[in-house]
Amino acid sequence: MSKFNINLHEAIYSLSDALDLVGVDHIHHGKRVAFMAAECGKALNWSSQQTDDLFQAAILHDCGVSTTAVHAKLVQFEWEGEKEHCKLGAGILTSTPVLAHLSGIVLYHHTHWSDLKELDIPEDIKLKANCIYMADRVDVSVLRSVSNEPNILLGKEEIRQKIADKRGDWFSPELVDVFMQVSDSDAFWLSLEREHISGYVSTWVAHDLTQEIDFDDLKSIVQIFSYIVDAKSTYTNEHSEGVACLSRYLAELFTLPEANCNLIELAGLLHDIGKLRVPDEIIEKTTKLTDMEYQTMKRHSFDTYNILKQVKGFEEISRWAADHHERVDATGYPNHKGKKELSIEARIIAVADVFQALAQKRPYRKDLPPAEILSILKEQARTGHLDKEIVQMVEDFLTECWKKALLKTS
Ligand SMILES: [Fe+2]
Ligand SMILES: [Fe+2]
Ligand SMILES: [Fe+2]
Repeated sequence: MSKFNINLHEAIYSLSDALDLVGVDHIHHGKRVAFMAAECGKALNWSSQQTDDLFQAAILHDCGVSTTAVHAKLVQFEWEGEKEHCKLGAGILTSTPVLAHLSGIVLYHHTHWSDLKELDIPEDIKLKANCIYMADRVDVSVLRSVSNEPNILLGKEEIRQKIADKRGDWFSPELVDVFMQVSDSDAFWLSLEREHISGYVSTWVAHDLTQEIDFDDLKSIVQIFSYIVDAKSTYTNEHSEGVACLSRYLAELFTLPEANCNLIELAGLLHDIGKLRVPDEIIEKTTKLTDMEYQTMKRHSFDTYNILKQVKGFEEISRWAADHHERVDATGYPNHKGKKELSIEARIIAVADVFQALAQKRPYRKDLPPAEILSILKEQARTGHLDKEIVQMVEDFLTECWKKALLKTS
């Protein structure tokens, strides 16, 4: 089985930067919650393993949120249906072997302590989930406070009081007590500012050494993020998964080395991660996009690159994924690269992306059958947009390509 050398903390942290993009104007929420939760964990003398789990769960706690509409609700102190994203997030983590142990924490991160303490689940899960809930509500209060009064120190006592009022009801008494202790200093609140929070998280990232990880484990982590991107719209359900599967199949037909086939699959899964920044209304729009909306949409492949390039070991993945809207005649975006500058892997993903999108229904058209998809691909190869040889390969294995794009097993 293929192995990858990767810093797991760094991979999770960088990819979760993409989750932050969904917030549009409420960014770094996951990181601030992770900082506050970890400070409480440390003050409670939790072991470094326990604090580490708490930190990772906190970074990922809102992984069940991919639409900007749901994200907008996160800034309310309490809202109807708030547990939906907890269930979704926990479900995603359960199917990821290396992170499955965090799913219980994410599942209960909006559950009041008065209910949570009665549940028949391990005590440490209850405390971690509740610690994240408390840190999460502090961050929401901070956001509200600074929108009225930019200096957080002037709003600090009001927020501390708000948390103290929920002692024993929403939050565990033990956690509230430790929060009151760590949040007493001004430094705690000033650390929430952007430059400090990034520094704090980078130190955490640096703690983890590069380790060997199986391809399947890495793929399951990457799938968390592809799932979040695809869940942005019902129309793009399994789009990234289909692009990944078809790209890998084509790479194998071109007899690319096994290592490249693995990487192209990961690049396919992540190619649209920059779309998390695009507001739902634009993704779901059934009529023609305005110039402004089109430009907002178009920048997603550039954002994909910026997110992925931070992960050491993802250098090729980031380039191949970011080039999926480049065209061999240099008419694509964002760099107007031509055939010579585009790797075969990038050219394969570009074809797979068009193929998969045409095989799915979109707000403005029905899903197309294989023969119609092929004729569009051939036209795009004729005009010089898509690579002719790759489109020829698709023609030679059309039915199989169609099944791969739609993840059909029979
Ligand atoms: Fe949440
Ligand atoms: Fe795209
Ligand atoms: Fe795509």
